[in-house]
Amino acid sequence: MRIYRTPKAMQRASRQWQRDGSKIGFVPTMGYLHAGHISLVAAARKRVGPKGRVVVSIYVNPTQFAPHEDLSTYPRDLPHDLQLCREAKVDAVFFPTDAVMYPGREAGEYSTYVAEEQVSQGLEGVSRPTHFRGVTTIVAKLFNCVLPDVAVFGAKDWQQAAVIRRMCVNLDFPLKIIVAPTHREADGLAMSSRNVYLTPREREQAPVLWRSIEWCRRRVREAGELPAATLIAEVQKLIQTESTGRLDYAAFFEGDSLKTVEMVTRGNHMAIAVFLGKVRLIDNGRI
Ligand code: PAF
Repeated sequence: MRIYRTPKAMQRASRQWQRDGSKIGFVPTMGYLHAGHISLVAAARKRVGPKGRVVVSIYVNPTQFAPHEDLSTYPRDLPHDLQLCREAKVDAVFFPTDAVMYPGREAGEYSTYVAEEQVSQGLEGVSRPTHFRGVTTIVAKLFNCVLPDVAVFGAKDWQQAAVIRRMCVNLDFPLKIIVAPTHREADGLAMSSRNVYLTPREREQAPVLWRSIEWCRRRVREAGELPAATLIAEVQKLIQTESTGRLDYAAFFEGDSLKTVEMVTRGNHMAIAVFLGKVRLIDNGRI
């Protein structure tokens, strides 16, 4: 497994693979890898085949964190990440520094960003208004470094995948975006690098996000359709009764367009964000 640390070195390798006729599958990550990431690697491998190349990027992207967020404490463990990548038969890891990804940024001389201006506005975009500009900027840059034929994102970040898909369509990135299913712990908690922040008590309560989604799914399937406002009030109550958490938002929308729905029916999508102590967890699922 090769490790590339600069855009130029990564591009050189990718161009060679292209000349050799190998398809390139890409899994962008911020590291602190877990079984969920490895399932994305498996999805990439499936797409590019045994002769293809699978690249994982490990980069904690500063521009997607607001100043009050957890950039400095974001969990990191490169040796473990590399071990997992080797075991998963990843061909190459792209592990750049801030200096090569955002040259001159500290001195105020980095000035080019990519912004999607519709799909990114609701849900996470309300609670984290600068987040998606950072995501689209780094993902566009990573695509330009890795030159993938296919890139795999996790369904846990449902809106992120939709924003990136729109970016690729609008900016003519010549690749296919795959969204792979969310990997869950046995109690339903969606796997996330941030779960490591949870205290044992918060960890016990954390499956309340998934239980809220299951609750709404059951209610809608029994009733046929229900007002979003009714379900949101019920979720609010469930969170209060079953945890010490605070609901940031629960929202119902069309899964593809992310357009909000007032009456929720089977096949619509739900997203939820909850603060458990200082940790903000998100999840989503089909209703
Ligand atoms: O989902 C993530 O881990 C990040 O947002 C991504 C796509 C790697 C961009 O930094």
